[in-house]
Amino acid sequence: MTHTVLCVATSAQGTDASSYKLAQQVLQQLPAHTLVTRDLSQGLPVVDQAWFRANFTADEARTEADRDALALSDQLIAELQAADTVVITCPIYNFGISSALKAWVDQICRAGITFRYTEQGPVGLLNGKRAILVVTSGGVPVNSAVDFATPHLTQVLHFIGIQDVQVIAADQQLTTADALAPCRGTDSGVGGLIVDCVYRTYPILCRVDPVDRGWAH
Ligand SMILES: Cc1cc2nc3c(=O)[nH]c(=O)nc-3n(C[C@H](O)[C@H](O)[C@H](O)COP(=O)(O)O)c2cc1C
Repeated sequence: MTHTVLCVATSAQGTDASSYKLAQQVLQQLPAHTLVTRDLSQGLPVVDQAWFRANFTADEARTEADRDALALSDQLIAELQAADTVVITCPIYNFGISSALKAWVDQICRAGITFRYTEQGPVGLLNGKRAILVVTSGGVPVNSAVDFATPHLTQVLHFIGIQDVQVIAADQQLTTADALAPCRGTDSGVGGLIVDCVYRTYPILCRVDPVDRGWAH
């Protein structure tokens, strides 16, 4: 059976982004797959009043305008539903995720489709998938008290049922080489990807040093 990978590329720097370059290396290390890329470098429409109204209108009662308002959301969700693995690039912007990635999150979290409410609380509906987050930053250490991006994105994925979330950190890219020294080491990461990395108790799969890779800004 074909393995499908969805790559959600979210940096405003597009293909120049270090997160994009690292994601390409991750993709090369994954088992043979069909790749679908969703490029958010040009941004993504935010949910608006028309979207809100349409989303909270029963499917059978939706007008043509309602369906138009939800068309992009439907497409983004279909991409996610079809994926076995989702690779999401996540540059840290102002301590959180980028506005484009937040817009994607808002578009794909839909009650009755990607999660549902039960008497026991909300239950995610996208089970059995794997997510790999490629997190980059200038100064914020991933998994530190001021990293609101990684826990946010991890929570969203858990919320919609994706429990298998792994993090690859290429963080603190604008700090000095000395500051990166404790992060260096050698180990193997995702699917045999050989990187300089360090493991933490939090599910950071590995950490790479962008300076060594020639990606430094
Ligand atoms: C709008 C904006 C906000 C940023 N805010 C932060 C921040 O709060 N903390 C941080 O460590 N780096 C911040 N950065 C730096 C980026 O996270 C860093 O340059 C990262 O390597 C970019 O990833 P990319 O190469 O994948 O685009 C910001 C960059 C931009 C463009």
